Amino acid sequence: MTNFKTSRYNETISLGDGIVKKSLLCLSLVAVCLLGVVYFGSVVKVDDAIQLEEDVTPDGIVIGFSQLGAESDWRTANTESMKAAFSEENGYELFFDDGQQKQENQIMAIRKFILQEVDYILLAPVKETGWETVLQEAKDAGIPVIIVDRMVDVADESLYVSWVGSDFELEGAKACEWLNTYTKVKNIPPEEIHIVNIQGTIGASAQIGRTASLETAARKNGWNLLAMKSGEYTQAKAREVMGSFLRKYDNINVVYCENDNEAFGAIEAIESAGRKVGSDIQNGEIMILSFDTTKAGLTDTLNGKIALDTECNPLLGPRVESMIQKIENGETIEKKVYVEENIFSTDKSVKMISIGNTGYPVTIITQDILDSRTY
Ligand code: AHR
Repeated sequence: MTNFKTSRYNETISLGDGIVKKSLLCLSLVAVCLLGVVYFGSVVKVDDAIQLEEDVTPDGIVIGFSQLGAESDWRTANTESMKAAFSEENGYELFFDDGQQKQENQIMAIRKFILQEVDYILLAPVKETGWETVLQEAKDAGIPVIIVDRMVDVADESLYVSWVGSDFELEGAKACEWLNTYTKVKNIPPEEIHIVNIQGTIGASAQIGRTASLETAARKNGWNLLAMKSGEYTQAKAREVMGSFLRKYDNINVVYCENDNEAFGAIEAIESAGRKVGSDIQNGEIMILSFDTTKAGLTDTLNGKIALDTECNPLLGPRVESMIQKIENGETIEKKVYVEENIFSTDKSVKMISIGNTGYPVTIITQDILDSRTY
């Protein structure tokens, strides 16, 4: 709900000559004042000179943020980034809602924000589909919606003003191209690559993009993609999924985990099965590929447990905040904003990968890089 601050009208309203005219005008002014009290929710003062005061300036911009959950370290960093950007000190009032990985909770939160008459709705959607109705309701209420992190799949793109996040398919393509280059450098034939995929939450943009890139690369390079199952972006579920993969297949040598928390779960399952994680797949190690590059993920990259960690940047708060400032200033904003991201490894055998005509350097992880990671 927008709060209004009292500000005085400069204009003085003079009364007419006749008594009747005066009474009518007085009655009208009283009515206007009463309406003002009801509408603006604060006292409208009428002084001797019959001046009107009206609330017109908002105390702060009111934001409703529907976050999808708290399933990963990445998500925690994303929530903190958004909360810091939309702080009271920065001139905002933030209503935050944790959807606990359920779309119905997020839809309820958006409806609540509409009733609260927030100025902007921010949505980090758990999955891509199923948003049309509630986004139309926000549009009808005149509340701009900005989509954060994962995308929404809606036919009418006017249902949101902008989206900011990662190119998840490119992230997946980078990870796969690194593996392709690595196997060539090490002379490992593609038919000796046996991959299992611990997917993210099914239907989330990050899952759709990363899984699609793996399927494409496996087909193109001739790798064996043994199995795919969701680890729901959590450590516990990924440990369970990896345990079942290990019981079913004895030739797994690459695990494609769709985030760092899944990588931690997979590592736990592999080690408790008495196997070793690492890049030396020719000598029985199981290679872990991961996404996010959280501090914990990069720690496992530095110690060699994660062979490659592909960055997914959660620090979206300042970008979304600057979009809102632009809208407030009447500037136009881009419909889609992709954040730039790097890839990290401790293995120096691949220095650069190419996708299309673009080259991406591999950042060799160091303790200094790790120390500078804030999440
Ligand atoms: O949508 C981004 C993904 O969601 C991150 O990779 C993951 O950690 C998070 O839960």
